[in-house]
Amino acid sequence: PAPGWSVTADVVVVGSGVAGLTTALRCDAAGLRTVVVTKARLDDGSTRWAQGGIAAALGEGDTPEQHLDDTLVAGAGLCDENAVRILVTEGPGAVRRLIETGAHFDESEEGGLELAREGGHHRRRIAHAGGDATGAEISRALVEAVRARGLRTVENALVLDLLTDADGRTAGVTLHVMGEGQHDGVGAVHAPAVVLATGGMGQVFSATTNPSVSTGDGVALALRAGAEVSDLEFVQFHPTVLFLGPDAEGQQPLVSEAVRGEGAHLVDAQGERFMVGQHELAELAPRDIVAKGITRRMQEQDAEHMYLDARHFGAHMWEHRFPTILAACRAHGIDPVTEPVPVAPAAHYASGGVRTDSRGRTTVPGLYACGEVACTGVHGANRLASNSLLEGLVYAERIAADIADRHEENRHEENRPEENRPEENRLHARVPSPAPVDRPEKPAHPLLAAEARFAIQRIMTDGAGVLRSAGSLETAADGLQRLHSDARDALDENGKTAEPGVDTWEATNLLCVARVLVAAARLREETRGCHWREDRGERDDATWRRHIVIRLNPDRT
Ligand code: SIN
Repeated sequence: PAPGWSVTADVVVVGSGVAGLTTALRCDAAGLRTVVVTKARLDDGSTRWAQGGIAAALGEGDTPEQHLDDTLVAGAGLCDENAVRILVTEGPGAVRRLIETGAHFDESEEGGLELAREGGHHRRRIAHAGGDATGAEISRALVEAVRARGLRTVENALVLDLLTDADGRTAGVTLHVMGEGQHDGVGAVHAPAVVLATGGMGQVFSATTNPSVSTGDGVALALRAGAEVSDLEFVQFHPTVLFLGPDAEGQQPLVSEAVRGEGAHLVDAQGERFMVGQHELAELAPRDIVAKGITRRMQEQDAEHMYLDARHFGAHMWEHRFPTILAACRAHGIDPVTEPVPVAPAAHYASGGVRTDSRGRTTVPGLYACGEVACTGVHGANRLASNSLLEGLVYAERIAADIADRHEENRHEENRPEENRPEENRLHARVPSPAPVDRPEKPAHPLLAAEARFAIQRIMTDGAGVLRSAGSLETAADGLQRLHSDARDALDENGKTAEPGVDTWEATNLLCVARVLVAAARLREETRGCHWREDRGERDDATWRRHIVIRLNPDRT
């Protein structure tokens, strides 16, 4: 549909977590006309839910080099070392600037930052806030800063598709805006720079730590726009998510790695510590190893979950260090002070995403990606704990600097006489349909009914979870293909399948990213990083120390 309203800016930032709001604040500070659009409220994304904290070499004796080493080990041979080096060297400064923006981190009795440990880190280097409410504090500080600077924000606006000019350069985005008056209906923000900071896609699985808004919208947009995505098969499963029953669906409460960092033990129903002897760091091994250790023990014992035992912390420590987790457990009738907490792995983080370079540029000119939606190369096959908030901060600053530089170059260009300007600098905005068409009556990405979301989640959980095989992935691919074909068969004479709305677009995006994720997972015929191929042996560096990069042909389904 043609946009009913439009706004013009120098940059539009899509998403309002740490990545989006940091980019927006830095762009604004550089004098760029900046608009932030976000699907729900400004503080409704994943950032708010982050517990453990933000990793950076801030402690005495710690160095970026040691942080680099731990990140590379967790990434299982697939990190881009240059991208990691940028992360760990620019990280401490970026955290300090976040503090200057207004975020308050917990301090030790001596007055410095109190640093915690998490899986895969050989040192205490995780800064945290409110005990285990780090993301909430970061979100609060950034939202307040955005409001204080009077940045233009559009809430309740689901991004649909990229606008491009006649030369394929970014020209803005189309949006579906719901309720609340500001700009109802389909609209557009016209801007030569678009930053995707839409977060993850955990809702592609039945049980996830991600909020309901994490439906892969940015990856789906990028795929439809012809951008490259990389490493999509590497979905990280957090080892210790509160187990609320085999049929629990949607967002599940996280039990932070920081709980293990303070000495909690993973035990089976007999009380045996099964991670001891599996890795030198036992319960604090990188999270893929812990997730696999738990899953393996669950299989061996035909158990639905394992336990996290931290009764020895005592009530005072639980109340002061982990108030959020304590409250979540108690809300579900479990008291970690007196009983072990039932836990099982659940989908947590997309280590892959829209492929970018070290300035956050994607393969579509003018389109950037930042944070979980991006694949900068820092996470490889498995993200190190608490590197995600850091990545959002560091790469947001780099993206803002790049957009500001480009803006400056374009301004010089525009000041030149018209006849001397290259044709490609002029915008010819073209508004595509939210569902790009191959033939007018057969959209390549037909809108799905909202209920398809649950079918997608079941298919993905059964076939593409932490344990995978060629057979389970084939079944998943077939199931997803059936959903796609059914939607195409259901097209009416106007080329419509379902009523456009947030839930139908979300289901459509989930199917788009799920299909590409499964395609990547089928290509990777080895066990590496986040997942475990039951039908293959261990990691195969001879053949598979490489990335799976996918770009959709917009004319194909
Ligand atoms: C946690 O607190 O365990 C999550 C940290 C992360 O995902 O980086």
